[in-house]
Amino acid sequence: STGQSDARGALIVLEGLDRSGKTSQSARLLSHLNGLGYPVESWRFPDRDTAVGKMISSYLTNQSQLDDHTIHLLFSANRWEKRSLMEAKLKSGTSLIVDRYSYSGVAFSSAKGLDIEWCKAPEVGLLAPDLVMYLNIPPEKAAERGGYGGERYEQLEFQKSVAKYYEMLSDPSWKMIDACLPLEDVEEQMKEIVLDCVVSCQKGKPLTHLWL
Ligand code: TYD
Repeated sequence: STGQSDARGALIVLEGLDRSGKTSQSARLLSHLNGLGYPVESWRFPDRDTAVGKMISSYLTNQSQLDDHTIHLLFSANRWEKRSLMEAKLKSGTSLIVDRYSYSGVAFSSAKGLDIEWCKAPEVGLLAPDLVMYLNIPPEKAAERGGYGGERYEQLEFQKSVAKYYEMLSDPSWKMIDACLPLEDVEEQMKEIVLDCVVSCQKGKPLTHLWL
């Protein structure tokens, strides 16, 4: 058994620039924790399957135009619409590995010129992650990986600015992961950190709210 039945799951967030490798690593962490017998799900924001998520997706693929404030609030609403399910999952003992969260919300919108405090405000009251892992890669390197799919934010100059805002948002509790290393090495760095976090949540680390 992996613990007491009343143990809560961990809220684990992966952040980073586009093409930093978050999505591949989420999948690897999911199967790692699964293999160890921990209940775990992999989530991502934006969640494009909800009604709000469909508006976001249409904006990102340039099929619709929205004012910067409006799209910011939609990204935030997309997290709020999942908040109660998130809390229920965590309380029932399921850990969540979340590909992007409020930090993406603030970093990307601030990079467009919106006030950072204004950007943070609608995130207040969402669940705070137990762990933020930042997949650190120079914007030029990420761009070289190719596969910038042509979505709205996938441009080098913009990503450079996003990186600066991530730096401003980061705090000493963030785990900086060297995302330039080969996939397997990145995975090795992350596995241990994630497991420590899951165990500390099981032992009763309290769930808190944004911003910390
Ligand atoms: P995502 O679906 O993770 O990108 P990908 O197409 O690489 O899988 O995110 C789409 C874009 O949305 C990405 O450029 C980051 C941006 N974003 C925001 O601007 N605000 C947010 O709150 C989130 C979650 C993402």
